[in-house]
Amino acid sequence: MLSLQPLNPKPSSLYSSTFTPPNSLSPKTLKPIPAFRPSRNFYPSIHSMLQYNRKPQLAGDTPRVVVITSGKGGVGKTTTTANIGLSLARLGFSVVAIDCDVGLRNLDLLLGLENRVNYTVVEVLNGDCRLDQALVRDKRWSNFELLCISKPRSKLPIGFGGKALVWLVDALKARDEGGPDFIIIDCPAGIDAGFITAITPANEAVLVTTPDITSLRDADRVTGLLECDGIRDIKMIVNRVRTDMIKGEDMMSVLDVQEMLGLPLLGVIPEDSEVIRSTNRGYPLVLNKPPALAGLAFEQAAWRLVEQDSMETVMMEEEPKKRGFFSFFGR
Ligand SMILES: Nc1ncnc2c1ncn2[C@@H]1O[C@H](COP(=O)(O)OP(=O)(O)O)[C@@H](O)[C@H]1O
Ligand SMILES: [Mg+2]
Repeated sequence: MLSLQPLNPKPSSLYSSTFTPPNSLSPKTLKPIPAFRPSRNFYPSIHSMLQYNRKPQLAGDTPRVVVITSGKGGVGKTTTTANIGLSLARLGFSVVAIDCDVGLRNLDLLLGLENRVNYTVVEVLNGDCRLDQALVRDKRWSNFELLCISKPRSKLPIGFGGKALVWLVDALKARDEGGPDFIIIDCPAGIDAGFITAITPANEAVLVTTPDITSLRDADRVTGLLECDGIRDIKMIVNRVRTDMIKGEDMMSVLDVQEMLGLPLLGVIPEDSEVIRSTNRGYPLVLNKPPALAGLAFEQAAWRLVEQDSMETVMMEEEPKKRGFFSFFGR
């Protein structure tokens, strides 16, 4: 019997979710756990996977300028930017994704748009092209556009800093067709000039971390820097989660991560070989039919981003009997 129980002693209202589970997950089929019993085996809510019975309500003022950051490299920032960006577009919102990872630009590759980037922001600032010429419109979802700062392998252009990025965001707002609903900024790793530039125009941040100690230390440092910069709305995505390793106590649980960073949870993404396959194909996971599990998790994170909601961490007491869709968080 599958038993799920929200962790009741959490003080923050940010842990609440407005989702009503479908019949298959009605409260009758869920055995409540009377008292909270600490365990290392905590799993993210599968409720959060199933919100297709309504449309998300856009919260906050548009354009929402969201930076996807982490501190550590290779934890999934670009993957998150591509998948959340396209999920938002699929939900009907207009999105501009800015690749601010100047030296190691690769968002265009993940999106399969590398052959269509003719101009970058550097050319716009030099007066060599117009802003709309540097915006690459996705053919799959025309309300999604990509903007690259510079050509691959080039250094951060001299004089290109936070002010230039703020100017760019203002220029996007002032376009004839109206500003986008979301401007998503893919931040470079580290905490140097590129990072400072990328966070300057943002008023929200998504901190991507993996459940390992090095990534967490960097994420903690970055959280402090974001707060110093006045960004108060910071949520985290825990990426590359392996429940088999959590069960074996070889990996930190999502709850452990949450306790260490003290941030509301936007999403939990499982380790999934489909992510690597989609990266190599230049076809973001969320566009897959049928959707991969990591793709569903990204979609749900996008949903919460729209509503400025967050998810609860729940505890699964017993193993599900059969391996099926809901064994996603099982072995
Ligand atoms: N959930 C996941 N499961 C499996 N591989 C992943 C997952 N998330 C990211 N990856 C892989 O990790 C690598 C680094 O991801 P990337 O998004 O480029 O990180 P970053 O932008 O933080 O440097 C890529 O090869 C990507 O396919
Ligand atoms: Mg990257």
